[in-house]
Amino acid sequence: MRIGILNSGGDCPGLNAVIHGVVGAATQLGWEVIGFRDGFEGMLPPGDYMMLDKVKTTGIMKLGGTILGTTNKGHFVAKVGKGDVMAVPPDVMEKAKKIIEMLEIRALIVVGGDGSLTTGLQLFEEGIPVIGVPKTIDNDLSATAMTFGFDSAVATVVDALDRLHTTASSHKRVIVLEVMGRNAGWIALYGGIGGGADIILLPEIPFSMEHVADAVKAKEASGQHSVLIVVAEGASPIDGEITTKGESAGEVRFGGIGDKVAAAVEEMTGKETRACTLGHLQRGGAPTALDRILGTRFGVKAVDLIHEGAFGQMVSYQQYHVGSVPIKEAVNELRLVEADGEVVNAARATGVSFGDGA
Ligand code: F6P
Repeated sequence: MRIGILNSGGDCPGLNAVIHGVVGAATQLGWEVIGFRDGFEGMLPPGDYMMLDKVKTTGIMKLGGTILGTTNKGHFVAKVGKGDVMAVPPDVMEKAKKIIEMLEIRALIVVGGDGSLTTGLQLFEEGIPVIGVPKTIDNDLSATAMTFGFDSAVATVVDALDRLHTTASSHKRVIVLEVMGRNAGWIALYGGIGGGADIILLPEIPFSMEHVADAVKAKEASGQHSVLIVVAEGASPIDGEITTKGESAGEVRFGGIGDKVAAAVEEMTGKETRACTLGHLQRGGAPTALDRILGTRFGVKAVDLIHEGAFGQMVSYQQYHVGSVPIKEAVNELRLVEADGEVVNAARATGVSFGDGA
């Protein structure tokens, strides 16, 4: 018995923990594991892959990135923009099927986010026995309560805010930290709460610059002379657009809202303000313990699902338990922050402003 695994889309802390979990569980069953390099691209003839075993995967769990490499571009892209689905071209699909047949792979584990799982679903519908494993720092997949990588990204935001706090307070400045997450505000919300931000701006709660400036002035009046603002890259003012910086492989790149908010705050409050964009620091580096454990559990569950022959399923974390759901259900909608949910309200209860005047 031989199975395949690939990572696809943006990298994410915890990918190597999934590979480690898959190889560990598969080895116990006496199965061989082939890892395709650079996502689905590794499936193109003549095939770019490596045999994975316990020796090759020892010690990889603590490494960021993925030992297999990944890409969010290439021949297999099936979702662009805000969710427009495209079919993987038939000739590319045929090549993928051939390599699976040639290498005698009995199941393929696809570790990816919404776009990559959409490709995985198309492969499954074409007869390749696929199992999905959800991955994204954005934590925005609807069919799982959490994805690995999110906790590590939040830890990086919290660490950044701890550092920014000391410099902001020394200089009595406002500092705006822009964080990732695309259309979802999970990283900004959790990172902002964990790092003690005073103002958190989310895509799910359109803000007004007047309310943001009022919140800064209120802090000043109360005797607090430094203010930390976390802004999600996908946040936008009421009636405003998301700030973007061009496209890459048909995908709009988010970014730039932090500078805009900082400039407006300085102008409207007279407070010296600086912007800092955390960028890919949120994706790199060692995964947290939680992400290593979640990644391991996801990898083991993927092997279990293969054992059961439950193809077309995606590993899913629900109610503290790792189970599964059909991939089809998982890629339908994004899971966004509830604007009036318990987490947002807990932050509000401690005096955090979301720039909406509430
Ligand atoms: O989806 C993960 C993510 O890190 C987003 O939060 C971010 O907008 C995007 O990927 C960045 O992508 P790239 O690495 O292509 O710049």
